[in-house]
Amino acid sequence: MLPDTIAACAEAVLRTADATEKTTLSRACVQKWRDTPDMPIGTAKPPLQPARPAEPELLSPRDVPRRRPGTPAGRIALLHAIAHIELNAVDLHWDVIARFTHIPMPRGFYDDWVRAADEESKHFGLLNARLSAYGSHYGALPAHAGMWRAAEDTANDLEARLAVVPMVLEARGLDVTPGMITLFEKAGDDDSVAALKTIYAEEVGHVAYGSKWFHYLCGRHEKDPKPAFHHLVKTYFHGPLKPPFNDEKRAEAGLPLDFYWPLAEEA
Ligand SMILES: [Fe+2]
Ligand SMILES: [Fe+2]
Repeated sequence: MLPDTIAACAEAVLRTADATEKTTLSRACVQKWRDTPDMPIGTAKPPLQPARPAEPELLSPRDVPRRRPGTPAGRIALLHAIAHIELNAVDLHWDVIARFTHIPMPRGFYDDWVRAADEESKHFGLLNARLSAYGSHYGALPAHAGMWRAAEDTANDLEARLAVVPMVLEARGLDVTPGMITLFEKAGDDDSVAALKTIYAEEVGHVAYGSKWFHYLCGRHEKDPKPAFHHLVKTYFHGPLKPPFNDEKRAEAGLPLDFYWPLAEEA
């Protein structure tokens, strides 16, 4: 039996440790939301950190071994790293649903993040399938610890959460994914290319949801969005943004140039 409110569904996903169980429950909750037009938002007590499987081992970024991308081992490592990001993203989208129910938001806000959570769950499955085609699986390699830091740092501020997670971290995905697609094209791995192209197309939407609801909240509080964005990113995101930026896809996602360029590190 699935929970009766979308916030309780979100909490249940966050409290599920196994990756396949988490993404399966995630997609079932999405289906229930879509099948139940009057499903209540409800309230929840999301954990500060989501439940995660015993594997992968989580290491500090500098301790995660680097592998050369031109080799099969390098491609497995890259697919594993992206799978880890996608699983984290599943939790991030359910967390924004569970954590901010005290702030009245239109139903469309929940529609958007439910859809994003569904897509991340699918992305994780696509990558895990690619890992098994290489004889590996999610959990077989160490992964970055600290991916949840942005969520913890912004657990009390919805505008900061939107600025840092979709508008900075997910936007970064738009910058780096074309290079990864090229790498798998060069290796002749068409199935990984197809998976990454699906991810690339759908991630634009997640960044766009962030920008849309960030601007909505700025409007509610009569704040100028650009300086508000700069202030929140400087406060909650540790370090400058890294060019080169994918200006075209960022524009498609509703991120103006003058939002992110002033936060870039000196070239
Ligand atoms: Fe994704
Ligand atoms: Fe995403």
